[in-house]
Amino acid sequence: MKVNFVTIAASLLAVSMAMPVLAQSSGATIYKGKCQMCHMADGTGNKAMKVPAFSAAAPEAKLIAAVKNGISTGPVKMPAYAGKLTDADITSVVAYIKTLKK
Ligand code: HEC
Repeated sequence: MKVNFVTIAASLLAVSMAMPVLAQSSGATIYKGKCQMCHMADGTGNKAMKVPAFSAAAPEAKLIAAVKNGISTGPVKMPAYAGKLTDADITSVVAYIKTLKK
């Protein structure tokens, strides 16, 4: 049987892309699915959308409150996630945000 190199390369690529998702916590999964489009993968914020970078010194309670209640004071609104995410989800996604901050 002839082995199709492109097929193998494509499957290896698919596996390598899937692995980090499986290896990470639900906080990372939530972040990638719901937050990354505005906050970017590294938390620096989507410049085109005028989303600011996460403030490095913000205490966890403040970040949790921001995710639950949203922020509507700036030029772009941070959506409120209370009722959309459980408290446990919000805690784990905030823990993930903390790992992004340098
Ligand atoms: C529609 C774009 C958008 C989405 C989606 C979004 N955010 Fe935000 N977020 C913002 C904006 C804009 C701000 C800044 C608001 C301000 O300060 O005026 C913000 C602020 C925050 C802050 C406060 C940051 C700080 O340093 O005080 C946290 C924490 C946060 N977002 C977490 C999340 C999480 C977690 C998710 C996903 C569950 C998420 N955001 C999804 C736009 C978004």
